[in-house]
Amino acid sequence: MKIAISGKGGVGKTTLTAMLAYLFAKDGYKVTAIDCDSSINLPFVLGIREKITPLSELKDLIQQRVVAPMGLFKLNPKVDDIFERYSVRNRYGIRVLVLGTIEKGGEGCFCPENAFLRAILRHAIFKEKDVLLLDMEAGIEHLGRGTAKGVDMLIAVVEPGLRSIETLRRIDKLARDIGIERIAVVVNKFSEAYRNVLDLIDYPILGVIPFDECFIRADLEGIPPFELKCQIEAFEEIKNRIVEILKI
Ligand SMILES: Nc1ncnc2c1ncn2[C@@H]1O[C@H](COP(=O)(O)OP(=O)(O)OP(=O)(O)O)[C@@H](O)[C@H]1O
Ligand SMILES: [Mg+2]
Repeated sequence: MKIAISGKGGVGKTTLTAMLAYLFAKDGYKVTAIDCDSSINLPFVLGIREKITPLSELKDLIQQRVVAPMGLFKLNPKVDDIFERYSVRNRYGIRVLVLGTIEKGGEGCFCPENAFLRAILRHAIFKEKDVLLLDMEAGIEHLGRGTAKGVDMLIAVVEPGLRSIETLRRIDKLARDIGIERIAVVVNKFSEAYRNVLDLIDYPILGVIPFDECFIRADLEGIPPFELKCQIEAFEEIKNRIVEILKI
């Protein structure tokens, strides 16, 4: 199962990624979670305290792997060893990689870092087994047309708010442009007072997570939210629905 998670800033993408990673690992799946966000915090939410080097910062290695003689780029640089060398596992065996910032240089930009990061994702999506979770920004910049084909589902996290729902439409367009067809929504930070917001979402809703101070406590105390069991049943239902939809 290859799942990309996107949404407006602060809606709960990293929280959802971490909760799903934990629940899939608890079910016995081998889980790899990749932080594709430029403000890196997935390792922290997964309980990892050591620093993980963002792959985009491995300048020498990137040069070695990507740049061929005469300054040309290799289209399929070797990256399979990177997974073992530069990932860290948390106490539940969840493997975490941090991509780092991708250049947003527009269509024409084909910097070695981008070629390298895309090769990493291509490897993760097409070669790795079991569960892959990608914690992404709303722009889903790391995904190209080729890799998008291997993404089974894109989950857009939405909070009750018009800007967040606006972002959902933008994500939907970006995703469709690169060929991701299965888009589903998780509504986070929900409150019954705003139930009518659900009517504004014309995408399949995998689940609804209430606003819960448990997450704020987890954040302030530096404890992974799954260790405090924050809304664990609601996330469990979402995980079960994903398994059902993807039938694995
Ligand atoms: N259901 C919830 N109820 C209350 N607080 C929540 C909930 N879900 C997440 N939070 C809190 O909201 C904040 C943002 O969550 P998170 O970091 O998961 O969002 P994000 O979309 O990954 O943000 P960013 O765009 O900065 O990467 C965190 O402090 C988190 O603890
Ligand atoms: Mg995040």
